[in-house]
Amino acid sequence: MTQRKRPEDLRSHRWLGVSDMRSFGHRSRLRQIGYDAEDWTGKPVIGIINTWSEINPCHAHLRSRADNVKRGVLQAGGFPIELPAMSLSETMVKPSTMMYRNFLAMETEELLRSHPLDGAVLMGGCDKTTPGLVMGAISMGLPAIYIPAGPMLRGNWGGQFLGSGSDVWKYWTEKRAGNITEDDWSEIEGGIARSFGTCMVMGTAATMMAITEALGLALPGSSSIPAADSNHPRMCGQAGRRIVEMVWEDLTPDQILTPAAFDNAIKVHMAMGGSTNAIIHVVAMARRAGIPVDMERFDQLSRQIPVLANVRPSGKYLMEDFYYAGGLRAMMENLREKLDLSCMTVTGKTVGENIEGAKTHISDVIHTLNDPIYAEGATAVLKGNLAPNGCVIKPAAADPRFLKHRGKAIAFENYDHMMHEIERDDLDVTPDHILVLKNAGPKGGPGMPEWGMLPIPKRLLGQGVRDMIRISDGRMSGTSYGACILHVAPESFVGGPLNFVQTGDEIEIDVDKRKIHLHVSDTELARRKAAWKQPAPKYPRGYGAMFSEHIGQADQGCDFDFLQGKAVMPEPEIH
Ligand code: FES
Repeated sequence: MTQRKRPEDLRSHRWLGVSDMRSFGHRSRLRQIGYDAEDWTGKPVIGIINTWSEINPCHAHLRSRADNVKRGVLQAGGFPIELPAMSLSETMVKPSTMMYRNFLAMETEELLRSHPLDGAVLMGGCDKTTPGLVMGAISMGLPAIYIPAGPMLRGNWGGQFLGSGSDVWKYWTEKRAGNITEDDWSEIEGGIARSFGTCMVMGTAATMMAITEALGLALPGSSSIPAADSNHPRMCGQAGRRIVEMVWEDLTPDQILTPAAFDNAIKVHMAMGGSTNAIIHVVAMARRAGIPVDMERFDQLSRQIPVLANVRPSGKYLMEDFYYAGGLRAMMENLREKLDLSCMTVTGKTVGENIEGAKTHISDVIHTLNDPIYAEGATAVLKGNLAPNGCVIKPAAADPRFLKHRGKAIAFENYDHMMHEIERDDLDVTPDHILVLKNAGPKGGPGMPEWGMLPIPKRLLGQGVRDMIRISDGRMSGTSYGACILHVAPESFVGGPLNFVQTGDEIEIDVDKRKIHLHVSDTELARRKAAWKQPAPKYPRGYGAMFSEHIGQADQGCDFDFLQGKAVMPEPEIH
């Protein structure tokens, strides 16, 4: 460790190390809690930002994992302070956790800024918690290390492995088609989530945990460890020890988060067959770091990087298998020639040093560049008159026949309209139709809910149809699959072209050419737009109103306009 800071250089010294009336107050109040001068004098104060809550099953273990972190911090000569933050349970929070990602980012940044802290440990994993924590930490700029909550164990139903989300969609469709019973459905409900931890397919949680490790913000291999594995608490202790060293070394996120680090993260995303949601989050995180990553960069890198991880929903296995196969270090080792190995990480070592010697133990779970699961990357970005600023599709998770397709639209004005129509026995629909959902975007949802995997119309289920093209300005869960075209920008609520699609219009998709085209003339589209009136925001006051006013579009990462940028923030006055 190269020590660059002296105790009197610590940020917390301003609160605790000086001799005046205010610092008397800070110290006397720490004594009130039971601490003594030995606890803090000359020691880095480490804020443990913990997104544990009683209603977040993905983070159920983080309450006790914080104690493992504290043990590590104390062993290394630091002073740990746990600070609870918004938990954002993906399955519980409505209308959408995406509505609160920026809230958590603000909370993280301001918790770190307003308290006497020198470094941060960020504890999260359930979808939006990772980008929320990381965005806030980037903007604050203190040395920070991320602890991934880790995936839960495989699900089980009658000896079959079940994957979070993916098998919910699958068996819900079979139930609607009359192929499984109520009892089967109840057994699946009891077997699909067997331990604490995040979803265990390559959903948004697993993708974002891996991306954050690939960026260099988490310990090598940490994102693959199952939450219930004893390696997980040991990793937490290690992170606690390391963050203290990072404070002395003054190793801040801006030394780690370079354009090359973001390219590494996007390449890992592609090789993992990761969630489409990650595009929005990575764009937002990069912009906080002052790096102008856009959707085009994802598309460019997607053409260079094949899918190596054979994990659902694009592949066959689950995150527990991925860990036994060698985890992210092994996959990055297989991707070595495509990565910038010189990028710095929280270990104080480079990416190349961190993955050195990693081995793949099960070759059908983690493939090689010479034997990939899918020749091109996980995500394609399409553009055209229907999505002038872009939209995304996950080709690996779609029926290949839809990658080049022309069909008639069936347009739904909003979610309720869609849910009503989709169950109609007399809906005039064929498998070649294209379902279009409007008002599911950042402002229209609001909060860009995960409605993008529209249900297959009931009338087609009986015919055995399980995939068709669905287009929306919403997102879909990373656990979802199918020919779903998402994140259409600009969204329909603000008058994007999607808003003016009518049932019967023809839409053409060509994923190879990255094209999406609405076969309606410009004149007719202008006529439809002239007759349209911008709807009022849904929320008249409070956070919802602030969200509606300041949220950006999907192609820009959905950050608030006032949170973007790298303007230097003043340290709080202490008086
Ligand atoms: Fe928390 Fe999926 S619900 S990660």
